[in-house]
Amino acid sequence: MSDLAVIGGSGLTVLDGLKIVRREPVDTPWGRPSAPLSHGRLEGVEITFLARHGASHVIPPHRVNYRANVWALHHAGIRRIIAVAAVGGIRPDLARGAIMIPDQIVDYTWCRGHTYFEDGLDHVVHVDFTRPYCERLRAGLLDAARRAGIDVTGGGTYAVTQGPRLESAAEIDRLERDGCDVVGMTGMPEAALAREFGMRYAHCAVVSNRAAGRSTETLSMETIRANLESGMTKVRRLLVEFVTGG
Ligand code: HPA
Repeated sequence: MSDLAVIGGSGLTVLDGLKIVRREPVDTPWGRPSAPLSHGRLEGVEITFLARHGASHVIPPHRVNYRANVWALHHAGIRRIIAVAAVGGIRPDLARGAIMIPDQIVDYTWCRGHTYFEDGLDHVVHVDFTRPYCERLRAGLLDAARRAGIDVTGGGTYAVTQGPRLESAAEIDRLERDGCDVVGMTGMPEAALAREFGMRYAHCAVVSNRAAGRSTETLSMETIRANLESGMTKVRRLLVEFVTGG
C-alpha cells in the first residue's frame, strides 16, 4: 500500500492515467471527506487520489471538510501529500500556466475547522509551522520537474484567502505588500492539518490567471477553469516523473 496521496483541486478532479483499483468511502470523526479515496496505480506506482472539491467539483473552498480529508488520508496510511491547487499570480513573472512549489504560506482564511487539537485535550498543543512545507518533498518535486524539463518556480509565498469570491485589487495590493507571490483559496488549513498529523506535505500551485488588478481580464471560475488545462497537463507529467523516478 502506498504512503503517497495527491489531493487534486480545481482542474484536477480526476487524475488522468491513474488506474483506480479501489474506491474507499470513509467516515471520520470529523464527518465525510470530499469524496471516496481513490486507490490505484499511476504508471504502475501505487498512489491515492482525493478530489478536494468532490468528484463533480461542487464543494466550494470554504466548505471543504479539510479535517475529514486529511484524517481519512492519514487513517489510510498516507504519510506524504502532494496538494495541487489553482492560484492567481501576483508576482509579475507568474503568468497563466506557470507552476510554483511554494516554500511559505500566509493564512487569511477564517471560520474553517483548522485544527484537530481543540476539544477534550489533556494539554494544549502548538505544532511548529516555521517551515510549513516538507523540504524533502519539495526537493523531490523540483528534481522531477528538472528531469521532465518542466519549468517551475522553486519557492515563493502562497496567500490563502477565504473565497469563494475573488479578491479586490486593493486586497491583492495588500497581499503583495505582505510578500505573497500567488493567491488561492484552499492551501489552508490543509497544510496545517497535515502538519498536526506529522505528515509530509507540499503544494504544487498552478497559475490559472493573473490576480485581481494585475490584468485587464474579468475573472470568473469559468475563465479560471478554462485557463487551467495547460498547467494541469504539466502537473500530470510532473507527478508521473515524481512517482516513477523519485
Ligand atoms: N484568487 C484566489 N484564488 C484563486 C485565484 C485567484 O485569483 N485563481 C485561482 N484560484
